[in-house]
Amino acid sequence: MEISEDKWEEVTEGSTTFSIYKDADIIYDASVFYNPKMAINRDLTILSLSSIIKKEQKKICFLDPFAGTGVRSYRIMNELPQNSVEKVVVGDINPIAVNIITRNSTNLNLNEKMEIKHSNAINILDSLPKKKDTTHIIDLDPFGSPIEYIEESLRALRINEGYLFATATDLQVLCGKFPDSCYRIYNAFSTRLFLCHEVALRILICNIITSAGRLGLAVEPILCYHHEHFLRVKVKVKDSKDVANQQHKKLGFVYFCKKCSYLATVELSKELDNTLCSYCSEKLEKAGPLWLGNLYEIEHIEQMKNDIGLFSLQLEKKIEKFLDFVLDEIDFPPFFYYIPFILRYCKKEGVSINQIIDSLRAKGFAVSRTIFDPQGLKTDASYDEIVKVIEQY
Ligand SMILES: C[S@@+](CC[C@H](N)C(=O)[O-])C[C@H]1O[C@@H](n2cnc3c(N)ncnc32)[C@H](O)[C@@H]1O
Ligand SMILES: [Zn+2]
Repeated sequence: MEISEDKWEEVTEGSTTFSIYKDADIIYDASVFYNPKMAINRDLTILSLSSIIKKEQKKICFLDPFAGTGVRSYRIMNELPQNSVEKVVVGDINPIAVNIITRNSTNLNLNEKMEIKHSNAINILDSLPKKKDTTHIIDLDPFGSPIEYIEESLRALRINEGYLFATATDLQVLCGKFPDSCYRIYNAFSTRLFLCHEVALRILICNIITSAGRLGLAVEPILCYHHEHFLRVKVKVKDSKDVANQQHKKLGFVYFCKKCSYLATVELSKELDNTLCSYCSEKLEKAGPLWLGNLYEIEHIEQMKNDIGLFSLQLEKKIEKFLDFVLDEIDFPPFFYYIPFILRYCKKEGVSINQIIDSLRAKGFAVSRTIFDPQGLKTDASYDEIVKVIEQY
């Protein structure tokens, strides 16, 4: 394809200015994909890397095999401290993407530390040297699901016990619109109801954990979240069969009531005694297998929060709020109660989530909101206790 000089446009994200090739108004029609709405994903990547570099105390080698315009890699090299990044390998299958990356690499003076590959990601992953300190972090950002690239990435990360980052945008599959596809790709049952995003995220993590387990590896989540149209998973790879065995005990199912939001989780090896809701006798929905363990590592999140001021992030306030939410819910078990459905069960109207939170706290229960839903509530109070509190109003 002819590249026409008048279609280049300068864009600034974070504190990095780079060129994109803008040959269409709609992002999905452009020859090379660039979505400014994903800046939050890239801002959080910068903060995660900042946190990892401090923890690991070494220079990182980063692989970006679905680079598109290459924005993520420019930001990493430009915004993180110069002496903390050893090398970035940037690849894409699309020749125009590679053209954009080559141009920006020269303009931004990044050629020394940046290796550009025009290749299928699977070949890049396959050909990575399995040597000490060659690849510490792999960031998978394909169109749709990252699942077919997980195992190769884990193999490459084993020697350094590195980090795997992955974005998934196949939410229609993971959130239950196409159950046959979800079962084929992820071997799991999902849901379209209020727990769908958390279920989707935990199904994806479960798949990464089982892929790792087959290789004798464990992966520990450091920050996994849902935002708008994507899921983001960041995990640390551990070369330990013992840790992997322990982790597999935290795979299971969630059962929940689509009428009153009662829920229960159960390990894979166990059965739920009663699959009818104890409150309204509705048949409980079942989703999984999925990960029932933690989504975040507290030290990682706290360091990210501390480091916000080091960078010029346009979305600083939003990110601060997001990390506060995460810290709030960090110690709670998985999933949440959906307040509108509990109110319906109690036949109550006009009681706000904040009133319920205050009342539960006044009774000594731990309570938090959740990043998954503004009407979601996590608590160590039983369903009976929540009902009692609501009935006071
Ligand atoms: C979602 S976009 C990446 C966006 C980019 N990471 C960013 O932050 O703006 C996915 C990219 O993967 C590339 N791609 C798709 N399939 C690929 C494959 N099998 N190997 C390498 N690149 C591929 C596409 O050309 C596209 O540029
Ligand atoms: Zn019920």
